[in-house]
Amino acid sequence: MKILVTGGAGFIGSHVVDAYIAAGHEVAVLDNLSSGREENVNPSARVFRADVRELAQVQSAVASFKPEVVNHHAAQSEVPKSVADPGYDAQVNVVGGLNVLKASVDNAVRKVIFSSTGGALYGEPDVVPADEDHPIRPLSPYGTSKYAFEQYLGTFERTFGLTFTTLRYANIYGARQDFFAEEGRVVAIFASRMIEDKPVTIDGDGNQSRDMLHVGDVATANLVALNRGDGGTYHVSSGVPVTVNDLFRKLALLTEYKREPMLGPPRKGDVYRIALDNTRAAEQLAWQPRILLEEGLRLTVDYFRDQIARLQA
Ligand SMILES: NC(=O)c1ccc[n+]([C@@H]2O[C@H](COP(=O)([O-])OP(=O)(O)OC[C@H]3O[C@@H](n4cnc5c(N)ncnc54)[C@H](O)[C@@H]3O)[C@@H](O)[C@H]2O)c1
Repeated sequence: MKILVTGGAGFIGSHVVDAYIAAGHEVAVLDNLSSGREENVNPSARVFRADVRELAQVQSAVASFKPEVVNHHAAQSEVPKSVADPGYDAQVNVVGGLNVLKASVDNAVRKVIFSSTGGALYGEPDVVPADEDHPIRPLSPYGTSKYAFEQYLGTFERTFGLTFTTLRYANIYGARQDFFAEEGRVVAIFASRMIEDKPVTIDGDGNQSRDMLHVGDVATANLVALNRGDGGTYHVSSGVPVTVNDLFRKLALLTEYKREPMLGPPRKGDVYRIALDNTRAAEQLAWQPRILLEEGLRLTVDYFRDQIARLQA
């Protein structure tokens, strides 16, 4: 199958590209390399360096590659950036997304798979784990722009017959995550700082919990969504809350880190306790997470050790 992956040079998108190519699909990447990196891209994928905010650039890539499926990962993906500049967030996540949908309809694409968020949609959830029908009340412009695009997918299906599957991700971690990022990427930041024996700061009391999923499990969810889940919205998650203090302890063991964490002020607008129920994905997509937290953290620490050794060489 021919698949165009937007954002395929980024952290998650590049793993999705690898999984598609390993399964024998023909893949192209559309990315402007704003946060993605060329070295992330599988050498078997064709690359269109294009900005989703420019309709002509998206049209030209889609018309030239003629994909059957468009997998849309390109995004402004950081919550704090969306708070600082909500207009830019909407330009990329809403207007850019609409350009991808318009080009898909114009070029007879069968299906769009969309990487949405579970962590930024529900505010402080009423129940943990929350399922996909939980009331939507985003705390950030990022959550709102992702949800707006989910709504557009429904419109494009009803009006133009463009099928979609929406995958609402938990907190994803693993190789190629940007460890220089200041915010939000707790595993990448902790692991890379511990390996270098630098101080690690926990925001708040560390009892806040997240639903952590290894990127390898996200890649398999995108594989099954090629042929299942039409018109559906699914959590891609572990279903289990894990505290930031727990993550600190597990990573400290793996990196033989002996320092105590420093405690900083809690982050404004952060959800305190969340996990996402993945029963619907298990029942309708036959997808389940396979990589246990300890195993995923070990793989991630190994990756960052390697990266840091390379940078220091
Ligand atoms: N990382 C997570 O935990 C998480 C959780 C929920 C949802 N998501 C979603 O998954 C997707 C991938 O996230 P990620 O963590 O890999 O982030 P990322 O920043 O590594 O990937 C985003 C990619 O999109 C590209 N991009 C950004 N703006 C673009 C533009 N205007 N035109 C073309 N390409 C552009 C970037 O260069 C990058 O390669 C995003 O849609 C994000 O919202 C991520």
